Amino acid sequence: MPHLMDYQKIIDSVRQQVLSEKLGGEVASYIPELAKVSPDQFGLHLDTLKGEHFSTGDSDQRFSIQSVSKVFLLAKVLQEIGSDFHKRVGVEPSGNHFDSLVQLEFEQGIPRNPFINAGALVVCDILMSLLPDPKKDYLEFVRRIAGSDEIDYDLEVVKSELVLSFRNRAILNMMKGFGNIENDAEAVLDFYVTACSLSMNCCELAHAFGVFANGGKLIGTDEVVFSERRAKRINAIMLTCGLYDEAGEFAFRVGLAAKSGVGGAIAAVYPGEFAVAVWSPRLNPKGNSCSGFRALELLTDSTKLSIF
Ligand code: DON
Repeated sequence: MPHLMDYQKIIDSVRQQVLSEKLGGEVASYIPELAKVSPDQFGLHLDTLKGEHFSTGDSDQRFSIQSVSKVFLLAKVLQEIGSDFHKRVGVEPSGNHFDSLVQLEFEQGIPRNPFINAGALVVCDILMSLLPDPKKDYLEFVRRIAGSDEIDYDLEVVKSELVLSFRNRAILNMMKGFGNIENDAEAVLDFYVTACSLSMNCCELAHAFGVFANGGKLIGTDEVVFSERRAKRINAIMLTCGLYDEAGEFAFRVGLAAKSGVGGAIAAVYPGEFAVAVWSPRLNPKGNSCSGFRALELLTDSTKLSIF
């Protein structure tokens, strides 16, 4: 039976509208490898919970997912230790840039939430203490929820980010000073940067986010990855913290639970209905994709499907 909502028509027209607006923005250059990406690409893929797939633009083109990885890291750590992780990372929005150090000093090395760099670094530290081979186990986890064995780390991106990771090293060392990092700081940084380097396309990313839209189950199966309650909580943190100090603006204009990355991706969910991934490398000053943000605004305006 045809779907009542013509998603294909909607996303094609969203793409055309966004491209015509020429929103500008700059490709991330503090990770030199990302500065080489051709800036005017745009891809979008949407998966419904009914098992339908819709793509437009450069949706098969792989990119570095960067901070979108923090959602998978959180899901993995919750799978391993449950809410015990809250002793070491909060769930409040930070209202600061993703790599800010200011709150950490005042708040004794406990990061505000798992989606700012400090929080994701603590999550990586916890996983390193628990897993025999964190990089391998994490990659397997992402491949499973994305349904693709072709997903891999991009070691050129890793190498390029590690040379200039001054702020992440400072964050790690401050937290280690407060006793909130157990492992060797450089080893934690290496795992974190590797996790951020995952190379995926919009189709794979939307598929992986399907599990968050679908109450913790893989779409089209009864396979439970995590509980419905956990999916609800991860989505709540995405809504309040997923776009850092632009999470309020994103809720206001778009109204989906989402996570962005400096590679230009934004992955978002409308629980119970769809997961969507959009990618376009030019970023606004907050580090979020200009065209990706606008595309999701147009999507929820056209479909009238937003959490609000
Ligand atoms: O740690 C960093 O700075 C990057 N590996 C990830 C930052 C990021 O994607 C923030 N996103 N908007």
